[in-house]
Amino acid sequence: MCGIIGYKGKRNASDILLSGLKRLEYRGYDSWGITAQNGEELATIKRTGKLSDFDGKLPSSHMGIGHTRWATHGGVTERNAHPHLSCDGAIAIAHNGIIENYQELRDELSAKGHVFKSDTDSEVIAHLIEEYAKEKSFKEAVRKALQQLKGSYALVAIRRNGSEIIGARKESPLVIGIGDGEWFLASDVPAFIDYTKDVVFLGDEEMAVLDRGLEIVDIGTGSPIRRPIEKVSWSAEQASKGEFEHYMMKEISEQNETMRQVLAHSDSEIMGIAKRINEAFGVFFVACGSSYHAALTASYVFSKIAKKHINVVYASEFPYYEDFLTDRTLVIPISQSGETADVMQAVKVAKSKGAKVLAITNVMGSSLMRAAHWSVMMNAGPEICVLSTKSYTSQVALLTMLAYASAGRLAEARAHIEKSVAEIERLTSAETKIKLVELASKLREKENIYVIGRGTNYPTALEAALKIKEVSYIHAEGFPGGELKHGTIALIEEGTPCIVIAPGDETHNEIISNAMEIKSRGGYIIGLSPENNEIFDFHIPIPTFGEANALLNIIPIQILSYYLAVLRGCDPDKPKNLAKSVTVK
Ligand code: F6R
Repeated sequence: MCGIIGYKGKRNASDILLSGLKRLEYRGYDSWGITAQNGEELATIKRTGKLSDFDGKLPSSHMGIGHTRWATHGGVTERNAHPHLSCDGAIAIAHNGIIENYQELRDELSAKGHVFKSDTDSEVIAHLIEEYAKEKSFKEAVRKALQQLKGSYALVAIRRNGSEIIGARKESPLVIGIGDGEWFLASDVPAFIDYTKDVVFLGDEEMAVLDRGLEIVDIGTGSPIRRPIEKVSWSAEQASKGEFEHYMMKEISEQNETMRQVLAHSDSEIMGIAKRINEAFGVFFVACGSSYHAALTASYVFSKIAKKHINVVYASEFPYYEDFLTDRTLVIPISQSGETADVMQAVKVAKSKGAKVLAITNVMGSSLMRAAHWSVMMNAGPEICVLSTKSYTSQVALLTMLAYASAGRLAEARAHIEKSVAEIERLTSAETKIKLVELASKLREKENIYVIGRGTNYPTALEAALKIKEVSYIHAEGFPGGELKHGTIALIEEGTPCIVIAPGDETHNEIISNAMEIKSRGGYIIGLSPENNEIFDFHIPIPTFGEANALLNIIPIQILSYYLAVLRGCDPDKPKNLAKSVTVK
């Protein structure tokens, strides 16, 4: 969590830093700060709250660093916001990650006379660099300081009167953007995509010095490292809101296009991955949150279409399965960001047991992509809203293709997804949105919403409930259709909303019976189904295309969640307490 940025070049650094931080706010948004260097002066500005609330003046300069925070150590205060400065105010750093040995370092530095101004773990880095800089060059001082740190970091650092900007990373992401006579450092590409698409992905435990050119060294040994300049395919338009008020609605509305991008994977690529799945002795899907729901959906498709059992495990629980892993196991971590700490830990465990790792991720150059033996991109484009919407459906579509490919039926999956594209256009049209605003206004005052589904749509029910609760703060729970009567039905009373996912497949009749059980206890039934049914109080028509129907069923719920948030005055792009990249365990 937290987003960091650095800039050196001909433009006004503060403007670049501020606009870049706005693009990184999905990584944390409880406070922010910028330090701009103007030769003799390091001018720092820090604020709590969102960047959009700021209407003050920023210092002008050609070099600076910035940070947007998701608090871990120390409360949400200006004092704890980054950048942090050394005692003499000559060194400024912004940090993303966690310094596990910060207390020990803080005690040592305090004994040497350093005075700390914040409660954060990060501030020790500025003081450590200051300590080493008494005898070494700035570059060497940063490198030595980094060697003392236990934990994870992505770091940007500048000094008073210096011409260089330094970036370094261990386990947290940092990418370098190379413009025409200008340099960028950021946690993620959208922060500078308006200016350049030429990037260098810094490796783990590497440090970059940007001065007149780019120099990369190994943090441990100091030896030089060469890294290629790569071109990112994301565009500036993809990373902007365009005509939409919020990224969430923009990203929901572009799912027709992201489906096309999933279909753009060649047959040979998909068949190659399916072959690895078929040949493995034991396959694990490992993921968190929405990505876990996509994995669970796919496990049903693998079971039905490919007759293949897939173990689906929450990444945070995966280490407890290590005794099942061998060198013939295939572990497939699924992660939009490719930075989720629990997922990275699972990969570490898998590799320590000799298992092979095939990553599915949306972010090129991400930690996950580098750690895996093989990887496949989700092709969803940048997802800026904290909630996953288009990345979720891309995962479901890609995994569905893999399941069908595993049974030698890839063409069928392609046909189902192609038909879904037209349907997504209808589901995200103004007409459907108006209908869902109407539903949202009926539900906005409710305290609880339940969602039920069976088979592939049981995970859809889980995902639907997650979408509703994380953005509107209405309590929502998803269940397999048959389970509600085993306890939770006790909570159904007059008017309790229950969303029933009733596709035209083998689950239809049974889920309708489950809906009747709820209706007869006063429940208000919202049916997602190809045809209307007399027990539905509100009907959302959705066709069923083979085992790909789960990816369509979630779309109206994404839209409903968005309108519930807007009607309740919540920010759909930045729900409270959340961050998009969860880089803490
Ligand atoms: C929910 C959401 C989260 C993520 C989860 C995993 O809308 O976005 O539940 O799905 O934090 O993130 P990734 O896929 O980046 O590993």
